[in-house]
Amino acid sequence: MDRIRIVGGNKLNGTIPISGAKNAALPLMIAALLTEETLILDNVPRLADVAQLQRILGNHGVDIMSAGKRSGDHEYQGQTLHISAANVIDTTAPYELVSRMRASFWVIAPLLARMHEARVSLPGGCAIGTRPVDLLIMALEKLGARIAIDGGYVIASAPGGLTGAEVEFPKVTVSGTHVALMAATLANGTTIITNAACEPEIADVADCLNKMGARISGAGTPRIVIEGVGRLAGARHTVLPDRIETGTYAMAVAMTGGEVLLRGARPELLQSALDVLTDAGVVITPNNEGIRVARNGVGINPVTVSTAPFPGFPTDLQAQLMALMTRAKGTSHITETIFENRFMHVQELARFGSRIHLDGETATIDGIGTLRGAPVMATDLRASVSLVIAGLAAEGETVVNRVYHLDRGFEQLEKKLSACGASIERISER
Ligand code: EPZ
Repeated sequence: MDRIRIVGGNKLNGTIPISGAKNAALPLMIAALLTEETLILDNVPRLADVAQLQRILGNHGVDIMSAGKRSGDHEYQGQTLHISAANVIDTTAPYELVSRMRASFWVIAPLLARMHEARVSLPGGCAIGTRPVDLLIMALEKLGARIAIDGGYVIASAPGGLTGAEVEFPKVTVSGTHVALMAATLANGTTIITNAACEPEIADVADCLNKMGARISGAGTPRIVIEGVGRLAGARHTVLPDRIETGTYAMAVAMTGGEVLLRGARPELLQSALDVLTDAGVVITPNNEGIRVARNGVGINPVTVSTAPFPGFPTDLQAQLMALMTRAKGTSHITETIFENRFMHVQELARFGSRIHLDGETATIDGIGTLRGAPVMATDLRASVSLVIAGLAAEGETVVNRVYHLDRGFEQLEKKLSACGASIERISER
């Protein structure tokens, strides 16, 4: 298994290109199941999760062609996928595949909407909490699906097709909103989703679906209206930039000091995180190329932050912010409100000598002047990258184990950071 070795202490200076958003690319690829025509996606990040979803879609009979690089493409150019679900040969998503990536459960929506049946394994628990799918099932039932659970599988059917309905979520859910949105595009009649998630990735998927002929309005707000259509067509869509990758590198620069242009980043996708960094003493300057992030000569101010659904501070940046605050000039408080168990990084950050106290859903972080490098390992994607951020500032050597978590969501992380002056390398076992 690969590891990442970091020798901390270097400032970051230069340019980091931001890749396409993993959490938009995955539902966009799944949306291709809604049509027999070809969906072309540009700027798809080269990530382990994307490759895994290609395998899962392949199992349903979907053909995916990845166009090679062209002359003039830069090193980090996202890939273009041509996805064709002309012949769906299997409506079952088996346990062996779904258990490796939660988002693959979402295939239930387009399979049900277009093929009128789906048999999808329950995704099971994961390292950041229980993460149930009850609200996804509730939404599909509202749209007229018959659902049974048997042998660990959700068996869904809608022999005459789905029917438009009012779907009110008791709690904001990204997965629930994606599923209801995709399913409703081909339902008979109008669907109104209330208390919908407002994450930019939802709006990006809705944009693509509208290009495919769907009739969706209000995506990106808590009330989405979908008028069902008989069929969807092919389309071409560019995946929006990854706001979590953007925020992660912004925090890395805040941690080490220096000045970096996050090329292609869009400030409106993560304004709450940029505001927190500004409070922490980081200089954030959006320009027409992206976002410039700088911290020169001033220390890091402590902050008090709670995670919240968009436009609030994202849970997917909570671990990275905590790593940053381990070096703040005082005491910070970070409260996690989305997932009940997303603090697996705390015990690993302690290995750098940090002082973090957990009380229920709030972490209190007493900043210290110097972190010391250590061997560490994490159990989820964002927790892993928080350890990289700590390692970049720690004295001496840090080795991050289980790098496959990072490969799930960060494209060429060590290359992007070393190009800006970090001492970071991948140690391959092979
Ligand atoms: C998405 O997960 C993201 N994943 C997560 O990113 C992200 O952390 C999360 O949204 C919150 O922003 C993808 O987009 C692929 P939810 P999702 O449904 O959709 C509860 C990463 O690191 N809930 O918004 O699964 C749930 O337990 C990942 O890239 C129910 O109770 O999150 C949680 O407490 C990790 N019942 C809350 O809602 C349900 O049926 C929000 O979950 C569904 C969810």
